[in-house]
Amino acid sequence: MNTTQKYYIKTFGCQMNVYDSHRIAHILDSLGYEAASSTRNADIIIFNTCHIREKAAEKVFSDLGRALLIKKERAAEGKDTIIGVTGCVVQAEDEQIAVRAPYVDFATGPLTYHRLPEILEKVKRARGESIIDTEFPAESKFDFLPENKSSGGCSFLAIQEGCNNFCTYCVVPYTRGVETSRSVEEVISEARHLVNSGSVELNLLGQNVNSYHGTDQNGQERSLAYLLRKLAEIDGLKRIRYTTSYPADMTDELIACHKDLPQLMPYLHLPVQSGSDKILKAMNRRHSRDDYLRTIEKLYAANPALRMSSDFIVGFPGETDEDFEQTLDIVKRVGYIQAFSFKYSKRPGTPASLMPDQVEEKIKQQRLDILQDLLSSYQLKFNEETIGKTMPVLFEFKGRHSGQLVGRTPYMQNVHVNIGKEYLNRIVDIKITEATVNSLTGIYPAETQSKKG
Ligand code: SAH
Ligand code: SF4
Ligand code: F3S
Repeated sequence: MNTTQKYYIKTFGCQMNVYDSHRIAHILDSLGYEAASSTRNADIIIFNTCHIREKAAEKVFSDLGRALLIKKERAAEGKDTIIGVTGCVVQAEDEQIAVRAPYVDFATGPLTYHRLPEILEKVKRARGESIIDTEFPAESKFDFLPENKSSGGCSFLAIQEGCNNFCTYCVVPYTRGVETSRSVEEVISEARHLVNSGSVELNLLGQNVNSYHGTDQNGQERSLAYLLRKLAEIDGLKRIRYTTSYPADMTDELIACHKDLPQLMPYLHLPVQSGSDKILKAMNRRHSRDDYLRTIEKLYAANPALRMSSDFIVGFPGETDEDFEQTLDIVKRVGYIQAFSFKYSKRPGTPASLMPDQVEEKIKQQRLDILQDLLSSYQLKFNEETIGKTMPVLFEFKGRHSGQLVGRTPYMQNVHVNIGKEYLNRIVDIKITEATVNSLTGIYPAETQSKKG
């Protein structure tokens, strides 16, 4: 008699959260729920939240307000709605959630969502009282999750979680806890499963992925370099990426993988944050600008086709015009082909939030505008240089227009192509014809004479 119960998950934040949402969906699938097309027809609404900057964290509370209205509308129709919050805001602000959104039925942090089946049971018995679980558990959630399913040609695979770096601006060590790595066997087995179910590209995830130190079958600790070489042996796995890396953990052994493993894509996200040594020190980053530039030189020597992307923070406490100039200088030296840049956002409980010389909002905005103009010019230049070239593109989504697919080049550029949907989740040679800052257009079939991707 009962119709199938439906869930809707809204995801904020980083790729790790996207991965977690995917796994939360699998838990709900295994309990017999189905995905809903919108919050309005969902019996469970989950917000998987991010706490990294103030805006991201605040957005959740306005979304929760809207979810309450939906809950009331549905109640008038005799339907129950469970509202849940998962992710980093829960870990950092569980008390705030209880005060500002007391109607939330459950809240569980990024390390405890494997307990969702029991949490939902409790919610059904609780009759309106919130269930909040923010423990840093002794067990690994990965031991309790249903098997990961491929999400198409390209899948994420979490191999490491948490961070011990304690950059002075950042909440991640507090929300995701200390660094832990999954075992080599567990990662290889999940990778094989994803490849067998259709993935040709794997993106290995971790907050500090290159400090991976999972154990092998003999209990010996192994590095990311070791893991990459093992993964490269998997038949049918054509592309490997890993993100996000910490510059000081970019070992020679790992850099050598960029020379030896053709599956490793020639694109690396290596956040520098600032180009000024004074600011890097205040941020508690364990690298100077010269260390960083030397690492990039080694990477380019290992694979001359490699290109970089980065994250930047402008307006960190104490940042002067000269410090900011140093950031612009590092952009010019490295010539990033993509980047994310942010105004420094004060986060409660972090050392930087208490530092003197906080930078005025107006100056932060000016610096951000200047930096983003410069970054865009390099991004556009790189994209324009691909016009006329033939590149292997992995098609991941249907485009906005019918008959169109959107895929990615080895450099993570989006490419729009008019091509049949049978090419979805496949890698196809495409000739690039147009470029903007954010995307490319290509044609298929690519002309054979210019072939060589
Ligand atoms: N090492 C991480 C970084 C996560 S946060 C990773 O694996 O992805 C992503 C980026 O957000 C950081 O690189 C940094 O540039 C930015 N960020 C973190 N805390 C911030 C803050 N308080 N204000 C502004 N930007 C911040
Ligand atoms: Fe945050 Fe720094 Fe750790 Fe990245 S390395 S997650 S920025 S503390
Ligand atoms: Fe945000 Fe947590 Fe990721 S704070 S960036 S969702 S690790």
